[in-house]
Amino acid sequence: MNHPGFFVVVEGPEGSGKSTLVAELGTWLDVAGLDPVRVREPGGTPVAEGARRLLLDPEFEVAPVAEVFLYLAARADLVDRVIRPALVAGRIVLADRFDLSTEIYQIVGRGLDRDMVTSANRAATGGLRPDLVLVTDVPPGVGLARQQRGEQALDRLDLEDRAFHQRVIEAYLAVGGPGVRHLDGTLPPEALFESAREALVAERPDLFAARDV
Ligand SMILES: Nc1ncnc2c1ncn2[C@@H]1O[C@H](COP(=O)(O)OP(=O)(O)OP(=O)(O)O)[C@@H](O)[C@H]1O
Ligand SMILES: [Mg+2]
Repeated sequence: MNHPGFFVVVEGPEGSGKSTLVAELGTWLDVAGLDPVRVREPGGTPVAEGARRLLLDPEFEVAPVAEVFLYLAARADLVDRVIRPALVAGRIVLADRFDLSTEIYQIVGRGLDRDMVTSANRAATGGLRPDLVLVTDVPPGVGLARQQRGEQALDRLDLEDRAFHQRVIEAYLAVGGPGVRHLDGTLPPEALFESAREALVAERPDLFAARDV
């Protein structure tokens, strides 16, 4: 899909600093007058927020195939109602997770069939691909330790076993291809933000050329 916008996705394992980074990037882009649209996955529309509650509540056990379709129902609604219209209007969209999370958690983490997940994922995104994927890498243990130190309650995915998290971390480290940039998630927040900011400016210098960023 061709569009004049800029679709930036922040990815990485639990507790790697994604949401902190998205918030900082959002504030920077606000100050620069670029008015970004922020979305978090799963969520961002009434239906997707409903799916989020079902997916993250440790009270609910969900079959792995049901889980993938709940994620993808949320994504399809978010793409259709929020992300695609924003990109068509030329906006910057900052997403906290997108299709790569499904590939990693459902194929590598849960062991679901690659072809099934890939084609269902493509149906949910309608073929929309991020322009830039920032992967925040952290070694095993770091993300979960941060979350346990923080105030937030652990969700259903945080409570998965160590081997699951290890697979997820290794799969993120191995991700490559066009538009993918790996960032060192062990950096302090300010340094991580600086490396992300450089990646955005390098990817779309035209957006930032006339601005004091
Ligand atoms: N660069 C950083 N260095 C150290 N601690 C950080 C960094 N970024 C965030 N934190 C802290 O680590 C915890 C997790 O951060 P954050 O919620 O941003 O991660 P996340 O990747 O969005 O997690 P989740 O996968 O649960 O959504 C928070 O307590 C946050 O304050
Ligand atoms: Mg987060």
